Amino acid sequence: MKSLICGAGMAALVLALAAVAPTNASADDPADVGTIMTKLFAGKNSPNNALKAAAKSDSPDWAKVKEASEVFSKFAPDLARNEPPQGDKDSWERLAKALADHAAALRDVADKQDADQLKATVKALGSSCKACHDVHRPE
Ligand code: HEC
Repeated sequence: MKSLICGAGMAALVLALAAVAPTNASADDPADVGTIMTKLFAGKNSPNNALKAAAKSDSPDWAKVKEASEVFSKFAPDLARNEPPQGDKDSWERLAKALADHAAALRDVADKQDADQLKATVKALGSSCKACHDVHRPE
C-alpha cells in the first residue's frame, strides 16, 4: 500500500513538473544577465561591434545601427529586472538603468540617423562596462 501511494505521488510530481516547465519560458521573464551580455557584447558580430564600426564610419550603415539598437532595446531593459549577481542592489539598479538609457538613446539615434549622436552614445556605452564589471561581475 505504501509503495502504491509513493508511486502515485511520483506520478503527480512528474505531471506537475511537466506542467510547470514550459511556463518558465514565459514572455514576461527577464533574460538572465549572462544572456543579455552575450546577446549584446559577445563575439565579433555582436550588436556592440556593429555600433562601434558604424560610429567610426563617415557614412554609417543605418540599417545595421537600427538592427543593433533593436537588440539593445530588447535586452538592456531586462538587466535591472535581475538581481545583481554580486554587489549592492542600488548600485546595480543605477548602472543597469544607465545601460537601458543608452539603449533608448540608440533607438533615437537610429531614427534620426544622427552621426554625431551615434559617436557620443557609442562612447558613453563603451565607458560603462568597467564600472559595472568591477563591482557586479563575479570572478
Ligand atoms: C549594469 C552592469 C553591466 C554593464 C553596464 C556591462 N556589463 Fe557586461 N557583465 C555584467 C555582469 C554582472 C556579467 C557577468 C554575468 C554572468 O556571469 O552571468 C557580465 C558579463 C559580460 C560578458 C561575459 C558574458 C558571458 O557570460 O560570456 C561580456 C562579454 C560582457 N559582460 C561585456 C560587456 C561590455 C562590452 C560592456 C560595455 C559596453 C558591458 N559588458 C557592460 C554586468 C554589466
